[in-house]
Amino acid sequence: MAFQKPPGTQDFLPGAVEKWQFVESKARDICRRFNFREIRTPIFEATDLFRRGVGETTDIVEKEMYTFTDRGDRSLTLRPEGTAGAVRAFVENKLYGEPDLTKLYYIGPMFRYERQQAGRYRQFHQFGVEALGAVDAALDAEVIALGYTFYQEVGLTGVNVEVNSVGTPAVRAAFREQLLSFLLPKRELLCKDCQSRIERNPLRVLDCKTDQKHFEGAPSILDSLDEECRTHFESLKLHLTNMNIPFSINPRLVRGLDYYTHTAFEYKAEGIGAIDTIGGGGRYNGLVAEIGGPDQPGIGLGLGLERTVMLLESQGVELGSLHNVDVYLVGLGDAAERELTKIIYGLRMRGIAAERDYQGRKMKAQMKSADRLQVRYTAILGDDELERGEITLKDMATGEQKLVPLEKLADEIAG
Ligand code: HAM
Repeated sequence: MAFQKPPGTQDFLPGAVEKWQFVESKARDICRRFNFREIRTPIFEATDLFRRGVGETTDIVEKEMYTFTDRGDRSLTLRPEGTAGAVRAFVENKLYGEPDLTKLYYIGPMFRYERQQAGRYRQFHQFGVEALGAVDAALDAEVIALGYTFYQEVGLTGVNVEVNSVGTPAVRAAFREQLLSFLLPKRELLCKDCQSRIERNPLRVLDCKTDQKHFEGAPSILDSLDEECRTHFESLKLHLTNMNIPFSINPRLVRGLDYYTHTAFEYKAEGIGAIDTIGGGGRYNGLVAEIGGPDQPGIGLGLGLERTVMLLESQGVELGSLHNVDVYLVGLGDAAERELTKIIYGLRMRGIAAERDYQGRKMKAQMKSADRLQVRYTAILGDDELERGEITLKDMATGEQKLVPLEKLADEIAG
């Protein structure tokens, strides 16, 4: 084969793409109900936006970005996530000047140069939301509920919500020292990644899957929270309980991005190889200021759509027929075939999905096409019928056939 798609990317072909459309339409409808509005930002942004936003010491910035220099000598990066761009747009367009909260959502491709494995791609897609302008923990809880509702409504089971508080930068700095005194003596026991990460980001070390056995008795960040952080976390739990959102507290949960403060959460489920996190998010009260805006708080989430669709498949969730053609038209004879163009266009204008043959095939082959499309009706027009202004309509489920006047065809099909 001459060309192949780049590693870590996918073609979404008809037959599979309808699942994506289904998932996306659920996301949009949930956002409508929660009053989040869509934002579309560029696929690439200034590299510095992600350095500042996502954080210099994160895996994303250190080794996963698709960065290039354009012909104007600018360093640009394909967005590895959606929050930095949304916040940049919030600042640049001065959305913070509006009286109401800014509640945004997006659905689109993100890019990370990651090692390939089940559920990990280099171009992947996220459904994300960002709510900017309020510190109320009720908003954190609603964002968590929004993601949970999404998974419920697409039909997934076994999705667990884990929440934590990662405090403020000051809380984390104090906790970091405490944690280092616990971790450093164990350094030699830890995996390679953790050994190299231990000073740069000891909180991430605690979240390592392979090293959990060494972390018994590790200090918990929840014991280090200050008054404000504790109150926020308590309030978050209360609001989640009020909404009946099941959740567990995971004091070792940290996220792979640097901007989080207070609330951090993840959605987890079994069924995608070694990966169990299917979505996550949290509060980022310093990010807007960090990238040059006013001191405005924010909270959001990002849900991986590949992982959602993979789970739908592994759980065998039936989505029903996602692509429907209502009627297949067959023309027998030259005059009838010419007339078909007009008839089929008329049906389509009436909202009916209609298909026909364009390859001069015999009636039998055309009927097979109709079967493959699982149409509800076929409509067969011969030259004689055309002269009488009629067409034969066959109900494919019952096999019943009847002659209907051409001008009544759309009404018959629409029922
Ligand atoms: P994240 O945890 O980096 O957060 O990504 C969110 C989700 O995107 C992951 O849970 C996963 O489902 C999906 N994802 C990430 N990388 C890949 C990959 N290489 N292949 C397939 N799926 C992947 C963020 O991106 C934050 N911006 C979320 C957020 C929004 N926080 C606040 N607002």
